[in-house]
Amino acid sequence: MPVSQKMLQFMGRSSWIRKMFEEGARLKAIHGADKVYDFSLGNPNVYPPEIVYEELHRVVQESTPASHGYMPNAGYPWVREKIADFVSKDHNLSDKESLSPDHIVMTCGAAGGLNVVLKSILDPGDEVIVTAPYFVEYGFYIDNHGGVMRQVPTRPDFSLDIEAIENSISPKTKAVLINSPNNPTGRVYSEESLSILGNVLDRKSLQFGKVIYLISDEPYRRIVFDDLKVPSILKMYPHSFVVTSYSKDLCLPGERIGFIAVNPLMENVRDVIDSLILANRILGFVNAPALMQRLVARLQGVSVDPLVYQKKRDKLYNALIEIGYECVKPEGAFYLFPRTPISDDVTFVKMLQEELVLVVPGTGFGCPSHMRIAYCVDDSTIEGSIDGFARAFKRAKAI
Ligand SMILES: Cc1ncc(COP(=O)(O)O)c(C=O)c1O
Repeated sequence: MPVSQKMLQFMGRSSWIRKMFEEGARLKAIHGADKVYDFSLGNPNVYPPEIVYEELHRVVQESTPASHGYMPNAGYPWVREKIADFVSKDHNLSDKESLSPDHIVMTCGAAGGLNVVLKSILDPGDEVIVTAPYFVEYGFYIDNHGGVMRQVPTRPDFSLDIEAIENSISPKTKAVLINSPNNPTGRVYSEESLSILGNVLDRKSLQFGKVIYLISDEPYRRIVFDDLKVPSILKMYPHSFVVTSYSKDLCLPGERIGFIAVNPLMENVRDVIDSLILANRILGFVNAPALMQRLVARLQGVSVDPLVYQKKRDKLYNALIEIGYECVKPEGAFYLFPRTPISDDVTFVKMLQEELVLVVPGTGFGCPSHMRIAYCVDDSTIEGSIDGFARAFKRAKAI
């Protein structure tokens, strides 16, 4: 067998989105791309804000040969300074809590950042608690670094079930990994729940005589609706990392640029940061892309207008509710995660496929009987899909 047993197993587990992608390509070839309503991928369909292109031109014009060279593995110090200042203000950090450039490590997107953090903190067999439904790649990233993923369900409204998290913490727990605004549910965790989670982790760290880290994956932080603000985890718990990127808010997922912010109040913070920097190097990222670092330094606080996605959410959410689907209204990101009208989500997703509507079964996110709809698509795709959603719903209810 040319590939390892483990990769074979992973390829099976990761196949949902790939299967939808392949099915989408097949259906588009038969019916034409405009007749297939593809909600399978979280790839923003909108252009980056205009200022991204203007600044990109400037950055290119100002380039010298040195601009394309290696740099400190953590990234350009002046870029990290700009980001540290912005994050400190954005998270409303006090002087004591504020970040310096040393607390920022530039990464190849949030995915790169998560791998760097996990590489730095995990020993073989260490457990990482994730709240289900969860971003499907987490299991692979945790395994990359010898860890074991432990799934803990969220409540029916997808808010954190702190009691369940607390009950799952054991001497093997090294970290809790959360994602807010959430992919696939769009849930934003409340300040109150994060504060209680911080207290639980403090208590459990004390009980087991070791630090339990909190990793907050936040690439959708700026995509929130109805004037909501995402609370800062850095204010809730000292042993915390924020991992994020410019993939979604600047619509640059292919450019692979993001960062890790390390809580300055973390125990042995300098050692942890040194470990992150080495991990960035030895995982083969070496450093985040130079051009993109210089670009995003100029764009702190710039984001796609969340109203664009809020309008799409409203259009699709209202239509699905009218049809009869049950769905928690998302507060951010660009996903809906409704219940499927029959408990077998895989069968229902196939019924939707027959209507040329492509979504991903909740099973792929550790939450069966649901489906993920990535609505970062043209309005015409949303509008064109509604009849298909309605027909599949009716057929499912008639089973
Ligand atoms: C929850 C979550 N975390 C991390 C990532 C990876 O983001 P990036 O493209 O910045 O690596 C994604 C991408 O879809 C995501 O949805």
